Amino acid sequence: MSNTDVIITQARYLASAVRKDQYPAEKKPEFVFIGRSNVGKSSLINSLTRVKNLARVSSQPGKTQTINFYERGAKLPGEEERRSFYLVDLPGYGYARTGREKRKLWSSFIEEYLKTSEQLQFVCQLIDIRHAPMASDVEMFQWLVRAGIPVLVIATKADKIGKQARMTQVREIQKALGVPDLSVLPYSSLKNEGRSELLDVLRDSLLQ
Ligand code: GTP
Ligand code: MG
Repeated sequence: MSNTDVIITQARYLASAVRKDQYPAEKKPEFVFIGRSNVGKSSLINSLTRVKNLARVSSQPGKTQTINFYERGAKLPGEEERRSFYLVDLPGYGYARTGREKRKLWSSFIEEYLKTSEQLQFVCQLIDIRHAPMASDVEMFQWLVRAGIPVLVIATKADKIGKQARMTQVREIQKALGVPDLSVLPYSSLKNEGRSELLDVLRDSLLQ
């Protein structure tokens, strides 16, 4: 089955939150995007939804500072009802324009969200394909694994390097994260590469 069977019916911004009472009242399956500042989280959400400025993108790191919920609908093969779910954009880790205090605050509200989200399906952890994972990436990955949260690693900005280099970099990521057979999905928001593979993973998760 390919994602051509999945018909996307809606994508809209829903809410921003830094506290629990600001999360959307209606619970829906959630897919979360996490990664260092500037790695391309907001761009990936735009590419997935095919709405250009749904999530705000910036060449300056630290653009997204709240937990942002985007609602999205999909009509799955063989189903009459439209499935509705959330794509959740998080502030980046590993960077804080306003210093240590703010960085701490971010991680605590992100952590609270990750620990309490009732319908979290999995977290997509984004890592720039051009660089070896940084200590903060490894820490985040290990934290997610320890918390029992399923993680899909996505290697972003794949358009910036050649096919051969991608394979080398994927191995680099697997090695740094300590999981040699980890599946790592190369993605380019610029060229929509990896998009149909990621949609397939989302669909399978919704059908489970
Ligand atoms: P924060 O909100 O600051 O945490 O950043 P973010 O992870 O949401 O990154 P964002 O999507 O804002 O993108 C950061 C920069 O990377 C922007 O200049 C994007 O245009 C660029 N970028 C993102 N994805 C890609 C990609 O697939 N290819 C290329 N070439 N550039 C990309
Ligand atoms: Mg962002």
